[in-house]
Amino acid sequence: MKPISVSARQFPGDFVWGTATSAFQIEGASSADGKGPSIWDSFCTRPGAIKDGSDGKVACDHYHRYREDVDLLSDLNVDAYRFSMAWPRVQPCGKGAWNEAGFGFYDRLLDALAEKRIDAHMTLYHWDLPQALQDEGGWLNRDTAHRFADYAYEVKRRFGDRIAAIATHNEPWCTANLGYGNAQFAPGVADLKQSVQVSHHLLVSHGLAMQAMRAAPGSARLGIVLNQWTADPATDSEADRALAEWEYARSVQWFMDPIFKKRYPELALQGYGADAPQVQAGDFDIIAQPLDFLGCNYYFRAWCSAEDPPRPAPAPLGTTDMDWEIYPEGLPELLLKLKAEYPLPPLYITENGMARADAVENGSVRDPERIAFVQAHLAALHRAMCEGVDVRGYFLWSLLDNFEWNSGYAKRFGIVHVDYQTQRRTLKDSARWYRDFLAHGAR
Ligand code: FCB
Repeated sequence: MKPISVSARQFPGDFVWGTATSAFQIEGASSADGKGPSIWDSFCTRPGAIKDGSDGKVACDHYHRYREDVDLLSDLNVDAYRFSMAWPRVQPCGKGAWNEAGFGFYDRLLDALAEKRIDAHMTLYHWDLPQALQDEGGWLNRDTAHRFADYAYEVKRRFGDRIAAIATHNEPWCTANLGYGNAQFAPGVADLKQSVQVSHHLLVSHGLAMQAMRAAPGSARLGIVLNQWTADPATDSEADRALAEWEYARSVQWFMDPIFKKRYPELALQGYGADAPQVQAGDFDIIAQPLDFLGCNYYFRAWCSAEDPPRPAPAPLGTTDMDWEIYPEGLPELLLKLKAEYPLPPLYITENGMARADAVENGSVRDPERIAFVQAHLAALHRAMCEGVDVRGYFLWSLLDNFEWNSGYAKRFGIVHVDYQTQRRTLKDSARWYRDFLAHGAR
């Protein structure tokens, strides 16, 4: 990929630059100081579930090394850090007693960030449900949505003045479709009807949590993070075009319509037929809470081919180590489409980045493809902003190489390399590039 140059100075003066991580992927310390097990702790013990047979017991040991990691953030010149709270760390059973030692960890992390003047952008749920709630039906049990609202209230009450932004969920699409649709993620269920019902309960839980947090003290801005893509038909055939429309409806509109239009998209409801969710009276009023921001995670577009085998995406810019097509143009296309369809609040790109088979050689990690990837996406993002999309920040996924869910440690997304034997952190060239990019943009 040819480098495309865009400078931080071209973005608004108060644009927020950051990196992102999530609790289960980096913290480790999976049973330390009273933490309860999560569905990912359980899922990792299922034979064959994680490609390299690994688990999150140690991960990047961030629980013990958070100071070093905050120092890294500070060296990178970022304004903000997006991370998630592990619900079972602060409430081991997902209801009842709070674990003060667990809250203590986030208290220290927030102090360390504040000391370095780095804004905290926190996600309440990045997929690690307390196993005790799973034992009672997990997200298939509507009661879990109420437990989530209790947890959200408590977090906002305690930390609401020390956190810039709180997101309820990260990528509920994944929880529903990968957790319950094809068993790739915890809790490992493959059942379409369950997955559709779970997506509804996740949306209800988002609405209840927003209401609860609005009632709690604290100035944090509140929103949700969705993974989104445009869906392009592989050819002009009717079948491919229909597939692309279905894909966009079931993935993007499925979460956006309830939040902004108090309904599910008709096309998706028709497609689901008898698998459509049970919706109670008043649910859309709960779900459609006003948002202070919407987080958008963008990695690729959906390439829709109804042929067997499907036509591969053209990928003129190549693919990443996840086999995801590199398609920066999809980002402005998506944002402009969303702007045309919905009354959007301010947006943040809450995740964007690429996996690469990185290795340390003579003390450095050369990852020019990642630098080109980020530059191309920033240039594309900048174009969308010039066309009127209100984007307030960008978070590079990820600060550190980490536990990439069912791929284990085999896929490296970090701009900082982690040696899992020694826990040594090494800045990749992309981290040095991001640091300099931000330093030059400094006002
Ligand atoms: C997103 C997840 C994040 C990470 C990236 C690569 O879907 O939110 O945790 O796994 O993909």
